[in-house]
Amino acid sequence: MNYTDPAPVSAENYDDDTVRGFVFFTMFWGAVGMLAGLWAALELAFWQCNMESPYLSFGRLRPLHTNAVIFAFSGNAIFASVYYSVQRLCRTRTASDVLSKIHLWGWQLIIVLDAVCLLSGFTDGKEYAEPVWIVDQLITLIWVVFGANFFWTLARRREKHLYVAIWFYIATIITIAVLHLVNNLSIPVTLFKSYIVWSGVQDALIQWWYGHNAVGFLLTTPFLGMMYYYLPKAANRPVYSYRLSIIHFWSLIFIYIWAGPHHLLYTALPDWAQTLGMCFSLMLLAPSWGGMLNGLLTLKGAWEKVRTDPILKFFVVALTFYGMSTFEGPMLSIRSVSALGHYTDWIVGHVHGGALGWVGFTVFAVFYWLVPRLYGTKLYSERLATIHFWIGTVGIVLYMVSMWITGVTQGLMWRAFSPDGSLTYSFIETTKNLFPYYLVRAMGGGLYLLGLLLMAFNLVATARSGRALNPPVPAESVRPSRLEQV
Ligand code: HEM
Ligand code: HEM
Repeated sequence: MNYTDPAPVSAENYDDDTVRGFVFFTMFWGAVGMLAGLWAALELAFWQCNMESPYLSFGRLRPLHTNAVIFAFSGNAIFASVYYSVQRLCRTRTASDVLSKIHLWGWQLIIVLDAVCLLSGFTDGKEYAEPVWIVDQLITLIWVVFGANFFWTLARRREKHLYVAIWFYIATIITIAVLHLVNNLSIPVTLFKSYIVWSGVQDALIQWWYGHNAVGFLLTTPFLGMMYYYLPKAANRPVYSYRLSIIHFWSLIFIYIWAGPHHLLYTALPDWAQTLGMCFSLMLLAPSWGGMLNGLLTLKGAWEKVRTDPILKFFVVALTFYGMSTFEGPMLSIRSVSALGHYTDWIVGHVHGGALGWVGFTVFAVFYWLVPRLYGTKLYSERLATIHFWIGTVGIVLYMVSMWITGVTQGLMWRAFSPDGSLTYSFIETTKNLFPYYLVRAMGGGLYLLGLLLMAFNLVATARSGRALNPPVPAESVRPSRLEQV
């Protein structure tokens, strides 16, 4: 089948119930995960916030936060966006309703089990791969369900052309599967305990090959796919350069996978491997900025809308933060810069520029566009969305700037030597200096969370003013030219 020969699609409807489910859980887990982050931030300023309870200790709360925001908030947002856009891009209903439901509920079960384990102190102790082996098995199963449903849907598609967003989704599904399997290869000894098969520096290398590519293929490629589908929709413009988007895709996925060793500079990893990681990280600037520019230039001719449309505001700032963290990241990969920044809060600032700015704001832009369409109505309050935008932006700036200051302070104080060769500052002196900035970070995080809650209110009110729709699949192709593939 092709464009000139569209199949009659009679009684088929899109499945948007699954999308609504994922949207709901994104908001719910987003609030939980960010509250845990805020609590952890407060603990760093006032240790008394741990209430002397093991369940609230920083060591348990921190992975709860990272797991919740990465797998639950970002994960559910990705699934919602993929299920909605893939059906439209393929002009067919998702292949299997049963698999969609298993995916939706299975993923929430994983999140609950993981949270219970982490709070109870059961962890694999590998960053972003903390879930214990039994939860890892469930993740594998549900990921296979997702992949099967996705590729089956592609096989049933009524549009010949695979729009670039789908390529980014494919890269996500395949790469995350490989990373998860290899980094979690372990021998179970009890229900919650296993031993990883890798050891020593190989373990470290594989862990950071995983860790860096979790950023690349969970916090970057699916969000680029979302950018390529939803931004042209929101701006009502074709994507600036389709050719650039293809070059962007292939160069990004080829380069990303080699950059992991930048997490292991000045370690036992062989020097050549560290240098290779550093070089690939520097090269990564080019495709990243190519993608950012392709996004921003898509707004050519629509810039005046940015003044009034909160959705476009969120997109522009998301892309700007993407550009910023993909400039900062390559700089942090240079050995001499890493010598200052590694182990300090500068890295935490870098992380949250990407996480709050790029990931969070893309989710907000997409959801403000999506939810009114899922309920056949208008957004309850554009004004509230604009307030959310400003609160969120100020929150990110407070978070990042305070972490830059604490990071550089730590880096400089830790490496200061007295003329007799001893360290100039004790650890506690450095820590005391950081206190005011930790307060500022907590304020920034608090504002960001407040913004999320405003959005939840706005979207619930939107949903209540409409009704849940599952629109029919159009019989005719609505995408006459390649540039309008969105
Ligand atoms: C209300 C908003 C948030 C607050 C207050 C917050 C706070 C924190 C805190 C206090 C830490 C621990 C830092 C440390 O160990 O010194 C942290 C780590 C982290 N957070 Fe957040 N966070 C927020 C939102 C997010 C979001 C939305 C994401 C991802 C989408 C995210 C991803 C991460 C990651 C990946 C780390 C680990 C950083 C590292 O190892 O360098 N956070 N966060
Ligand atoms: C060109 C793109 C990027 C490069 C080359 C890069 C490079 C780096 C480097 C060198 C570090 C510090 C490692 C260390 O000293 O410990 C780092 C940490 C990190 N980056 Fe990036 N970064 C990039 C983009 C991003 C983006 C867009 C995000 C978020 C969406 C992000 C999330 C993270 C996270 C979560 C960590 C902390 C890992 C940890 O220690 O737990 N990065 N990155």
